[in-house]
Amino acid sequence: MKVTQATSSGGGPSGSREARVATHSHIKGLGLGEDGLPLPGTAQGFIGQKSAREACGLVLDLIRAKKFSGRALLLAGGPGTGKTALALGLAHELGQKVPFCPMVGSEVYSSEVKKTEVLMENFRRAIGLRVRETKEVYEGEITELTPTEAENPLSGYGKTISHVVIALKTVKGTKQLRLDPSIYESIMKERVSIGDVIYIEANTGAVKRVGRSDAYATEFDLEAEEYVPLPKGEVHKRKEVVQDVTLHDLDMANAKPQGGQDIMSVVGQLVKGRRTEVTDKLRGEINRVVDRYIEQGIAELVPGVLFIDEVHMLDMECFTYLNRALESTISPHVILATNRGSCVVRGTEYDGVAGSDSQGIVAPHGIPLDLLDRCMIVRTLPYEAPEIKEVLKLRAKTEGLLIDEDALDKLTQDGLRSSLRYSLQLLTPAAILSRVQGRTQISLADLEESTSLFIDARASAQVLASNASANGRML
Ligand SMILES: Nc1ncnc2c1ncn2[C@@H]1O[C@H](COP(=O)(O)OP(=O)(O)OP(=O)(O)O)[C@@H](O)[C@H]1O
Ligand SMILES: [Mg+2]
Repeated sequence: MKVTQATSSGGGPSGSREARVATHSHIKGLGLGEDGLPLPGTAQGFIGQKSAREACGLVLDLIRAKKFSGRALLLAGGPGTGKTALALGLAHELGQKVPFCPMVGSEVYSSEVKKTEVLMENFRRAIGLRVRETKEVYEGEITELTPTEAENPLSGYGKTISHVVIALKTVKGTKQLRLDPSIYESIMKERVSIGDVIYIEANTGAVKRVGRSDAYATEFDLEAEEYVPLPKGEVHKRKEVVQDVTLHDLDMANAKPQGGQDIMSVVGQLVKGRRTEVTDKLRGEINRVVDRYIEQGIAELVPGVLFIDEVHMLDMECFTYLNRALESTISPHVILATNRGSCVVRGTEYDGVAGSDSQGIVAPHGIPLDLLDRCMIVRTLPYEAPEIKEVLKLRAKTEGLLIDEDALDKLTQDGLRSSLRYSLQLLTPAAILSRVQGRTQISLADLEESTSLFIDARASAQVLASNASANGRML
């Protein structure tokens, strides 16, 4: 999924990362100080929206303390006021280890899968499990790698590998292993060569490349390599491995058996029978195994965040399901976002009585009151001119554009008049226009040209309205 890709890892202008500029790529976090209050200026890409950010910071603390379960956070506010950005900032703050599963309300509508099934799947994507296992492994630097070939008994031609001999070296000594050909395949997959430090799990035969032995560190290498020291101790040893998986991973691993790796297959062995579909029964069995692991202290539950954007797109069926799911013992933290005011709750428009013309139940944000009651609501407010200007400046910087001061002022006014998103979107076309003119900096003229080419939503609606009154057709 990973929205959490560009975390606040210094935010250095590394070429590849700057090159991929998406709508929210300037957002690196919530920009809060030690005291939980919003930092002034463009902290981590966030500007203004102070109280909403502070509220999200509090929620973040609650989530970290695992005290937010059973409730939901609802971000409500007009279009382009930074709701999605807030949720993504929160995801960055949570870090890589806590699962974050973003979805959009309309994702539940599929002709093949039940709506609640889609919701359930996403719920399980947002619940993590940190598993500590002690594994029997062979670890060391490869000093010998010799596959032994034999005649293929099935066809007269071609050869197969009958076994492979590997010698592993540690500080203490060297050990030669004679291994199954299937392990040779995984060695090939990991692109292991002599001089690499690897470990092989004794039970499953999974091979993991740790890095290149630092004895080779003086070698000239084109690619960036990770050099690791020669492992200490014996080649054959017990090692603690920590793994982060989500319940959804476990579901999938057990529904689609692919054969032996890691925790997935361990659970797979415990859950009897192989299935090809994730059923409620399978989930139940997995939950039981997970519960046992937690009781034994092998695993730790890491409730993550499920973010449902455009939540008004869900219908009554989904909302009642959400109510129940929020109250279950293992539930992730739920964040909802909507830009609707009072509107009809989907799925209540038609009450099933023939001939009736039920208009549906109107509720704030299109969310039924009982769910709304379980929500903590945070409002995002429309931006003022200075904030719009700051966001625009930041965006221009992220996209590597230069812009004249008067053009920036004009763009800010456009943003105030129509929306922040509209003026953000004008930046790139204006930059292209200015490049065509041979300029390196966006000037007012470029901007005016781009405004005349791309009209905003309100202007478009006005055009339509005047056309409609003229002849009722859009032409
Ligand atoms: N406070 C802010 N600081 C920096 N950038 C912001 C801020 N608020 C919004 N943005 C940027 O403005 C754009 C629009 O914001 P966003 O998509 O979050 O709006 P939204 O509230 O989700 O709107 P909608 O209701 O239409 O989905 C995005 O590119 C976002 O990154
Ligand atoms: Mg949004």
